[in-house]
Amino acid sequence: MLTSDGILAAVGTRSEMESLPESRSAEKLDLGGRVVLPGFVDSHTHLIHAASRAEEYELKIAGASYEEIARKGGGILNSVKKLRAATAEDLKNRAHLALREFAEYGTTTLEAKSGYGLDVASELKILRLHKELEAEQPLEIVSTFLGAHVVPAEYRSKRGGAERYVGLLRDKLIPEVAARHLAEFCDVFCDRGAFSVSEAKRILEAGKQHGLAPRLHAEQLTRSGATQLAVQLGAASCDHLEQISKADIRALAKSNTVATLLPGCDFHLGLKKYAPARALIEAGAIVALATDYNPGTSPTVSMPMILSLACTQLRVRPAEAIAAATINAAYSLRREKQIGSLEAGKQADIAIFEVDDYREIPYYFGVNKCWMTLKKGQPIFKKAHT
Ligand code: NIG
Ligand code: FE
Repeated sequence: MLTSDGILAAVGTRSEMESLPESRSAEKLDLGGRVVLPGFVDSHTHLIHAASRAEEYELKIAGASYEEIARKGGGILNSVKKLRAATAEDLKNRAHLALREFAEYGTTTLEAKSGYGLDVASELKILRLHKELEAEQPLEIVSTFLGAHVVPAEYRSKRGGAERYVGLLRDKLIPEVAARHLAEFCDVFCDRGAFSVSEAKRILEAGKQHGLAPRLHAEQLTRSGATQLAVQLGAASCDHLEQISKADIRALAKSNTVATLLPGCDFHLGLKKYAPARALIEAGAIVALATDYNPGTSPTVSMPMILSLACTQLRVRPAEAIAAATINAAYSLRREKQIGSLEAGKQADIAIFEVDDYREIPYYFGVNKCWMTLKKGQPIFKKAHT
């Protein structure tokens, strides 16, 4: 590969590259025969949160379910309480550490959702942090507004509270987020205990009117019909999908909505029912894989671990998993022309692995084989002891 100003100027065999006149003055980086991939595109994360929920992890191991914990005020509301109490500086420092770790595992672009603020000031605080973080470090951050994560506690106690909160999202927050260019996408957690399909529809339509493209958390805990809504709205992505039906699979297959699978959630929650990746792929759906990095269901920054889970638990082949974690994820973020593959004209976003065969990346599960990561041609991570 020949890179110039952060862009892949040419890609081909060694002799083709060496015969280009620009190669004569180029600085040479010998990768020693290691495996080179496009940098991972992690298209679903909840980057900004204040703390882990290790206390709930132990409750879950003892037998409590994710939904039981949420009904008792734990879960997302637990993280909301912690985020509202945190300073922007603390949140930013925590996110900076995570971003450095993402780069160590080969990720070069990630999507980040708000959704642990759930009031005007806190949601805007998170979205502004996405912007500041992007300016302060090399990873690209694609911002999504997830004010519709759950109905916050102060609205639950009011009569018609859910309806009033949907009103706040539609009439105040979405217009403000769009006017300040704080997000490209609008997401809704559409499930039991969160938002209904009809609420999600109204929120996402308002987002669309303001130029925010829809994404959805769909069919994670129950089959709600959110996938059909995602397809109807032309959503960029429809995520989770553990409980989808055959008709949902067919609808996704006929659409350009990406089916984003998040096997880290099922693994971390100890759930046995993974999304039907094979059926989706065989039907012709566009499948992406992401970490869903968040403190409640998937506290990992490791795309290689997600590949391992996808291969072993979802029966996705290694090459399919890599495509899902790069070009398909880039497509769901509407950046398939800039990132997600190693082709001339695209950004030189590259992850290099210390393996002999690309299949060894998922094969060595829980082991990070990433040796070097480049963003726009610049090294942003290099393994210390090699
Ligand atoms: O993607 N499903 C909703 N949102 C997150 C979990 C959030 C949390 O538990 O804090 C998810 O799994
Ligand atoms: Fe999520």
